[in-house]
Amino acid sequence: MSAAGTGSPATPGGAPTHQVELAGAPLAWDETGDGPAVALLLHGFPHGRWLWTAAARAMVAGHPTLRCVAPDLPGFGASPARPGPVTLDGWADLCAVLLDHLGVDRAAVAGLSMGGYLALALVRRHPDRVRALVLADTRAAADTDAVRERRRALADVARREGVAAVADAQLDGALGRTTRQDAARVAAFRAAMAGGASVEGIVGALAAMADRPDATPLLAALRVPTLVVGGAEDALTRPSELQALAAAISGARLALLDGAGHASAWERPDAFAAVAGPVLAGDPAAGRAAG
Ligand code: MLT
Repeated sequence: MSAAGTGSPATPGGAPTHQVELAGAPLAWDETGDGPAVALLLHGFPHGRWLWTAAARAMVAGHPTLRCVAPDLPGFGASPARPGPVTLDGWADLCAVLLDHLGVDRAAVAGLSMGGYLALALVRRHPDRVRALVLADTRAAADTDAVRERRRALADVARREGVAAVADAQLDGALGRTTRQDAARVAAFRAAMAGGASVEGIVGALAAMADRPDATPLLAALRVPTLVVGGAEDALTRPSELQALAAAISGARLALLDGAGHASAWERPDAFAAVAGPVLAGDPAAGRAAG
């Protein structure tokens, strides 16, 4: 896409399995599996549903009761940006509309990084719709002023130089040192980021993340089975931060995946599936609702 291009982004991974007019605009998603246990998989920034493709397949292979639903958030992949300001609360409401459309009362929700911010917004706005949580490579705290400033600068890069420049800026922090040794995988990840987002999507998501409230007060009240998972090589949400997040949620489990960085579900999909699949499928041994 050109620097000025803000239309529908390309769709790494091919056409979505579903694309429906929802709440006034098309929303695209992939479904993997057709079991009764619905799991909503929310991608990070600047990703798309492609982030989850391999992990969803591995989770469904291990847990045939699962039906994984991985949307392209508006402005990413095959979901066009929507008019008006972007907020995580607005996206959380859209997730609830998607669950309505699917005829699902309660879903397990997995969110990676920005997707984790969104998962926590969904818990805050629609607590009755969430039956289990997987928080991957993410945090509950709001942005610091310095991070907000970096987001403003990155939005300017997107407007001025286009999506590929944003993909380049994100690449180093996005992957762990093990994955970064594999040039073909690094190139594939960069190409997916550069080809799957629109400038509008990027600018909107950056504003939404900068404006998100601190979700820390929610954590002590969480009463659904929760897994905190992330890459042992994650340089953006470091293992110590993930440990602290898990410790703040009663009954939460923590899994750190060797050889993975900030995009753990993409970098080590089988290992991710091994720990997240049971939680999302509602396996009673996988996690407990804290009492
Ligand atoms: C992500 O991977 O979604 C980003 O690192 C989130 C962020 O910029 O805070």
